[in-house]
Amino acid sequence: MSMIVIISVIVVVVAYIIASLYYPMLAGGAAYGPTPRKIAAEALKLADLKKDEVFYDLGCGTGEALIEASKLCDHVKGVEIEPIRWCIAKLRARKARVILGNLFKQNISDADVIFIFQYQGRINNRIVMKIKAETRSETTIISYYHPIENMKLVKSQNEIFIYKT
Ligand SMILES: C[S@@+](CC[C@H](N)C(=O)[O-])C[C@H]1O[C@@H](n2cnc3c(N)ncnc32)[C@H](O)[C@@H]1O
Repeated sequence: MSMIVIISVIVVVVAYIIASLYYPMLAGGAAYGPTPRKIAAEALKLADLKKDEVFYDLGCGTGEALIEASKLCDHVKGVEIEPIRWCIAKLRARKARVILGNLFKQNISDADVIFIFQYQGRINNRIVMKIKAETRSETTIISYYHPIENMKLVKSQNEIFIYKT
């Protein structure tokens, strides 16, 4: 009997971990994949993130970009919808404010620099519409891996694409 309980718990845990990688897609975002820390550092340097600016990672995963941004900037915020990744990001990026929630419902009007590693096309377009509607002009958007359609590229390097609103 106890063996059945143990196996059931393992099955449920494994099923949750697999589902957690993909279910954010139901909330309009991308599945999980981390940005390498070296790339995150390079992206922030390319975007010239400054100490007094407000930085967001929308869909911050386990906090790779938050950790690197915290080395340069005093106002680092991340939003993550999946509770385990949110918890890991909170523990790793101690200086950042890590919010559990849906990025599409987060007020980002104070943002100066926004990092996204989501998906090309419909998902990025929806995020960019939100950014343009809520932030001041000249807000910097860093998109890792996926270029953003219909925006003028300011800089790019190693799959890092930088835009201004
Ligand atoms: C490709 S990963 C990028 C993680 C992190 N930004 C990085 O670069 O390492 C995308 C992340 O966005 C999160 N996500 C997807 N849709 C979201 C939503 N609507 N609100 C908040 N987070 C979301 C996923 O759970 C996942 O952790």
